[in-house]
Amino acid sequence: MWDDSLIKWLIFMFMISGDALYQLKLSLGAPANQLIDWNPSHVDPCTWSNVICDNNDQVTSVTLSGMNCSGTLSSKIGILNTLTTLTLKGNGITGEIPKEFGNLSSLSSLDLGNNRLSGEIPSSLGDLKRLQFLTLSQNNLTGAIPESLSRLQNLINILLDSNHLSGHIPEHLFQIPKYNFTGNRLNCGANFPQPCESDNSDSGASNKPKIGIIVGIVGGTIILLLFVGLLFFVCKGRHKGYKHDMFEDVAGEVDQRIAFGQLKRFAYRELQLATDNFNEKNILGQGGFGKVYKGVLQDNTKVAVKRLTDFESPGGDAAFQREVEMISVAVHRNLLRLIGFCTTPSERLLVYPFMPNLSVAYRLRERKPEEPVLDWARRKRVALGAARGLEYLHEHCNPKIIHRDVKAANVLLDEDFEAVVGDFGLAKLVDVRKTNVTTQVRGTMGHIAPEYLSTGKSSERTDVFGYGIMLLELVTGQRAIDFSRLEEEDDVLLLDHVKKLEREKRLDDIVDCNLNEHYNIQEVEMMIQVALLCTQASPEDRPAMSEVVRMLEGEGLAERWEEWQHVEDTRRQEYERLQRRFEWGDDSSYNQLAIELSGGR
Ligand SMILES: *[C@@H]1O[C@H](CO)[C@@H](O)[C@H](O)[C@H]1NC(C)=O
Ligand SMILES: *[C@@H]1O[C@H](CO)[C@@H](O)[C@H](O)[C@H]1NC(C)=O
Ligand SMILES: *[C@@H]1O[C@H](CO)[C@@H](O)[C@H](O)[C@H]1NC(C)=O
Ligand SMILES: *[C@@H]1O[C@H](CO)[C@@H](O)[C@H](O)[C@H]1NC(C)=O
Repeated sequence: MWDDSLIKWLIFMFMISGDALYQLKLSLGAPANQLIDWNPSHVDPCTWSNVICDNNDQVTSVTLSGMNCSGTLSSKIGILNTLTTLTLKGNGITGEIPKEFGNLSSLSSLDLGNNRLSGEIPSSLGDLKRLQFLTLSQNNLTGAIPESLSRLQNLINILLDSNHLSGHIPEHLFQIPKYNFTGNRLNCGANFPQPCESDNSDSGASNKPKIGIIVGIVGGTIILLLFVGLLFFVCKGRHKGYKHDMFEDVAGEVDQRIAFGQLKRFAYRELQLATDNFNEKNILGQGGFGKVYKGVLQDNTKVAVKRLTDFESPGGDAAFQREVEMISVAVHRNLLRLIGFCTTPSERLLVYPFMPNLSVAYRLRERKPEEPVLDWARRKRVALGAARGLEYLHEHCNPKIIHRDVKAANVLLDEDFEAVVGDFGLAKLVDVRKTNVTTQVRGTMGHIAPEYLSTGKSSERTDVFGYGIMLLELVTGQRAIDFSRLEEEDDVLLLDHVKKLEREKRLDDIVDCNLNEHYNIQEVEMMIQVALLCTQASPEDRPAMSEVVRMLEGEGLAERWEEWQHVEDTRRQEYERLQRRFEWGDDSSYNQLAIELSGGR
């Protein structure tokens, strides 16, 4: 059985590293067109660009070189104690190096070269026991080199050239194989016993291998040229018109297009025109997979164009097309239909019909004051419609499609306010080339099933969990994870919050106050019961989507609910026992951390 504290721990692990990186992005003032996928609601920072994680989903490398970030460094980054490589060179970063950098205890390479950093080198850098490469060249650093750097036993490369450093250099640093202190006012060079840069006497020796390499390259090239020339003659002999062959290749591509049937392949130019060159004004939203733009095609059809970011590099083009085709065969009233797609070497775009009433999340939480509240009757229809859409994906598609990010923001509303599930199939589409490697956890904090978060394995039942949380969003109008609830000593996770109120039989306090008491309390109770069944910690206990549909239609809920209450009671007693033992829930550092995170946003 899944333990709540484990789930919380995992969520907070992701939140901590994601938050630290997001703070870094904010403080660096990354230009709008950079790091767009560094999005705090996107659960796992390991899926972000320029971030690399190890097999345990711990962030190990962050590389942001030459990105034109002109802000400052964030001290929050100090929390990433699994980071081994941090490269921020050539950005024009200003301000000081935060002393919290000394907390990056796994760091082996730190490159802050070619920025505009000022102030002194913090002596805390002497705590980076694993550090091998330290580059602070070409900045505006002042003061002396801290004595603490002598403690860095593993250092093999230290470059501090072209700063305003002055004074004594710790003796130990001259023993490092490669050092450079030139372009400062340090005690080295002509008037001192030690030179300012490491002696490169081995460079003479290294010339010999270089000559060898050059000879090798030249020789190799000649042989290659001869070989190519020979091949050319052979080919020419066989096919006189090999230019003609090339044309045949292109024709083959056209045939492939016809095989796509109804799915339209758009030209990039067409979508550029439709969206006014991806004008910021036309952005409908930004999800985990990229931005969505509103557009109008030449025949006046309104469309939504999804511009995927962070997909695996090209080469996977054929695989991409296969996945796109797979998505396009899932046709159901409650599923967002794919109209077409577009690929270029650097872009992947998907074209969907435009949904005039946007998303359920928008209607619940972001609507303009003059727009009407999503009334109870519509919420019930959304619940049923979304359930039917997911049932179709799970039970009527072959191969079945796991959505992996079911939430109110991904359930759209057509002109009749009928629920239309969007964004399905994308997780696989983006990870096409990683299918036999570990798939990254994709989804949204607070909506992710515990087993998916901890093992990275998704199934229909992880979607059922997400669906259950979506039902809670529908009833409460609230977010799945909300730090502001902490201020009222309440639970951060919507699920915990609802469970508590349900236990205390305070159903009316659960319901969205925007409904102004226009709802049927029996129906509310039923929806909450279905939601709690769907969000059970262990995946086997959750109902299948087809059962959910039946329960929403009033069949078989009572028995399952009784069973749930019994299981839940035992589970809660167990949890409370654990809590007393570890004093988890009362742990002030845990709550303090949560408060800090919410304040930081
Ligand atoms: C960096 O920013 C400056 C000023 O905003 C701009 O002129 C320049 O083109 C940018 N460089 C890159 C590589 O984006
Ligand atoms: C991080 O560094 C600061 C200053 O160097 C220190 O006060 C703080 O205790 C450190 N935090 C952790 C978690 O090690
Ligand atoms: C570098 O620092 C010095 C002394 O603090 C200051 O006078 C100078 O303007 C700085 N230069 C740049 C490019 O920031
Ligand atoms: C040391 O730094 C100076 C100034 O940045 C540079 O010109 C020189 O080539 C560097 N020396 C070595 C050995 O890297």
